[in-house]
Amino acid sequence: MIKDFSFYIPVKLVFGEGKLAAAGDEVKAIGKKALIVTTGELFKKTGLVDRLAKVLAAAGVASAEYSDVSPNPLHTEIDAGAAFAKKNGCDVMIGLGGGSAIDAAKGMAIALGHDRPIWDFCMGPNQASISSKTLPIVAITTTSGTGSEGTQWAVITNKATLEKPGIGSDYTFARVAIVDPELMVSMPPKVTASTGFDALAHSIEAYTSTLATPITDMYCEEAIRLIGKYLRRAVKDGKDREARNGMAFANTLGGFSIAVGIVTVCHGLAHSVGGVANTTHGESLAAMTPQTMRFSMAGNPDKFKNIGMFLRDEYVNLGQERLEDSVREVERLIADVGLDNGLSKQGVKEGDIERIADGVVRYMGGSIEIDPMNPTKKDLVEILRKSM
Ligand SMILES: [Fe+2]
Repeated sequence: MIKDFSFYIPVKLVFGEGKLAAAGDEVKAIGKKALIVTTGELFKKTGLVDRLAKVLAAAGVASAEYSDVSPNPLHTEIDAGAAFAKKNGCDVMIGLGGGSAIDAAKGMAIALGHDRPIWDFCMGPNQASISSKTLPIVAITTTSGTGSEGTQWAVITNKATLEKPGIGSDYTFARVAIVDPELMVSMPPKVTASTGFDALAHSIEAYTSTLATPITDMYCEEAIRLIGKYLRRAVKDGKDREARNGMAFANTLGGFSIAVGIVTVCHGLAHSVGGVANTTHGESLAAMTPQTMRFSMAGNPDKFKNIGMFLRDEYVNLGQERLEDSVREVERLIADVGLDNGLSKQGVKEGDIERIADGVVRYMGGSIEIDPMNPTKKDLVEILRKSM
């Protein structure tokens, strides 16, 4: 019996090696002047920003550059970027980089389109809704994690309140997502591992969420298989084109999956952890995924049993698979790619645990509501303790 569901992902996906070259024609169709948003100067130094600007110019699209964005974009940086875009007459925002650059571009598209500070859309009783005034967004991903090119979500950090909510609406999908595995070749092993694990966490959570759909289930299954097959290879040899290609596709599938199936308890926790301590998103997910799986698996045992099978790229579940086998398979992958560090090694203190659990309940409540076991604050504290 197919369950009732709706499915909406209005993203034009342009996938393949060398597809950066398509950016000119794609952006030309939606804007006249683009703001190229990056996190820091790395891509200016490597020449990627200039390459993109040239591709745009060849198609008759002008551009300006904005790089003053942190790896976890701050609401103040988004507002400053939106003001810069306004001053420069930009009408389309391009996020060039990992999830942070793409999220920052989404944030600027919201803030500038509505002419309001981004935090107005993030939190609080008078939270503003995001409308069609949002400027068009183009996502060019250089990592194979976060999936931001395929989702409506943007994660914004407020340093003053130590909050890191995810925001989004039907208007914050990228109009065009360019996924060019060639751009990922230079990603260092550590970043490959942590972003790749993020893609796995997206796929596990969207697959087991109560909002899972028959379409996202197919995406998640394929994404988990690809990650089982290619993440170790991509970490070991960044120039392994087949592995990079497979991870890029897995990440995009994971992104589309969380656009609809959303994320569950582990991402709820990871956001709150990231607001309190300066952890790397994928590394904190790796520290907590085994424990969140153990917590949630009783709520959807059939699906949790399949995860280990998918990771091994097997097609038949003989019924002998135990729930714990899936967790072990994930733990093996975590160890093989060097992400086996507990939260305490990532700077989280025992004294932060209550605050982190509170944060999940306060601003990531949706993620625990759609978790198959719908954890309480006490459960969250327990998961965090076990993940230290
Ligand atoms: Fe994520």
